[in-house]
Amino acid sequence: MTLYETIFARRSVRRYDKAALDAAALGAIESYVGGVKQLAGQSARFVFAGGEELKGGLAPHAILAYAGDGDAAFVNIGYTLQGVDLWLQSSGYGSVWCGMASPKEAENDYRILLGFGKTDVPLRADESEFKRKKLPDISNEDNAVARAARLAPSAVNFQPWKLTFADGRVTIAANVRGIGRALPGRLYLFDIGIITKHVEVALEHEGKTIAAIEVAGNRKDVSTVVAYEG
Ligand SMILES: Cc1cc2nc3c(=O)[nH]c(=O)nc-3n(C[C@H](O)[C@H](O)[C@H](O)COP(=O)(O)O)c2cc1C
Repeated sequence: MTLYETIFARRSVRRYDKAALDAAALGAIESYVGGVKQLAGQSARFVFAGGEELKGGLAPHAILAYAGDGDAAFVNIGYTLQGVDLWLQSSGYGSVWCGMASPKEAENDYRILLGFGKTDVPLRADESEFKRKKLPDISNEDNAVARAARLAPSAVNFQPWKLTFADGRVTIAANVRGIGRALPGRLYLFDIGIITKHVEVALEHEGKTIAAIEVAGNRKDVSTVVAYEG
């Protein structure tokens, strides 16, 4: 299954086979994560941990993300690990973003984790199984890229985003009015990165080439701008 197809079938998996993956399987995942593309100028660190090293972890394994404190560093983690989330599920594993979990021993620059492992929970059969906002509420256009973006996961399923398509660019702006207080910390910044990955995968599926992805603004005014050609 391609990453694009996985967008229409993935889900947050919260039930796992408790047995650890074998060394070969873990090695393949580590090698994928080691080579994953980050946003320009960003250098998050990713560290693998077992479920026993976590408080409140939902899965037998986790990828812990460490990065600086800037908003772009948070957006970059969302963007990067959502590529991993799609790849894991396209490879037959389950995965789940865990904002409420944390490593028992963490450095100050710990940001969030993505849990993963073996599961017998099936992928979604189709788009109808997703609970999401209606497309006109999150995008100025109804097109294939917006439809794939709409299915992106977000903390507490808030979907704190607004997409604008214009002149070879997709602008993804944070839309956190009214929900800011309900959301702990800056989780919505990960969400903006997550949907940016969906936009990238969908544009590439449409045959476009990504020219640049930039993070603009701060906190509740943060946005990403995806420029493409073709
Ligand atoms: C940044 C982020 C943090 C999340 N934290 C948690 C969490 O702590 N616990 C949990 O059960 N789900 C967590 N989720 C999963 C969301 O609840 C889930 O993605 C959303 O409800 C949409 O459902 P779906 O992923 O199955 O499509 C998180 C998702 C994101 C993007």
